[in-house]
Amino acid sequence: MTAFITLEQIDQAADAVRSRTSHRPRVGLILGSGLNSLADSVQPADVIPFGDIPHWPRSTVEGHAGRLALGELEGQTVMVMQGRVHFYEGYSISQIGLPVRVMIRLGLEMMIVTNAAGGVNPEFSPGDVMLITDNLNLMGMAGSNPLMGPNLDELGPRFPDMSRAYDPALMQLARKAAAENQIALREGVYCGLSGPSFESPADLRFLRLAGSDAVGMSTVPEVIVARHGGLRVLGFSGISNKANLDGSTVTTHEEVMEAGKVITPKIEKIVRGVLRAL
Ligand code: HPA
Repeated sequence: MTAFITLEQIDQAADAVRSRTSHRPRVGLILGSGLNSLADSVQPADVIPFGDIPHWPRSTVEGHAGRLALGELEGQTVMVMQGRVHFYEGYSISQIGLPVRVMIRLGLEMMIVTNAAGGVNPEFSPGDVMLITDNLNLMGMAGSNPLMGPNLDELGPRFPDMSRAYDPALMQLARKAAAENQIALREGVYCGLSGPSFESPADLRFLRLAGSDAVGMSTVPEVIVARHGGLRVLGFSGISNKANLDGSTVTTHEEVMEAGKVITPKIEKIVRGVLRAL
């Protein structure tokens, strides 16, 4: 039986955050596997461990720190989620959406989301950064959409539009920030799967045929919840490994974490540039 998050639970979590900080953030950041370090630059930071926030799902995965940092970054008041939970950890798909719904109730305007992903586009290499221009919601198509259950009318409509999920104006700012920093920014479609097993070569050939450029185990549910609640969204995938379309190589979590070291400084520069330009 799926556990559906209620508005009451969301508001209890939002109240807990509000009571621990005087910052009133405009921008939410969700930092994915191995991409955590940006949170250390938030000043003066109010840090709240996820465990102190009621109903907040806690990550069990190595590389996810598990706390919120609120403060200033490049002239913007931000709320940074260091670490996130994934559907494969056993939370209900509705619970995955709670942190983003808290952002909505706290009055944030936009969300920047990052993830580690496998490169399905054969032109992509480990270490590349991809601007997410659209997503392929295979979790949802397989029956796991974070908006299932009673609609929370206070947050958004029963049938939200997803035609421009990733904000065109924010994407433009990202392209400009990348160019100013001489970072070659890839662009493409992120495909969200539940994981936790990596894809088989046959899975990957299917995903490529279906139009995927990168594949990962997060982000899409969070973006759906954000759009439902009217947040503007910007997303980046750090390409941590080349998807193995012919079965010749093996993908490991260690490889994903290692690539994060190359990717983090690039994403950091782009995100800083976007925040400055807002
Ligand atoms: N597949 C799915 N998720 C991932 C991958 C991958 O190859 N790399 C990092 N996250």
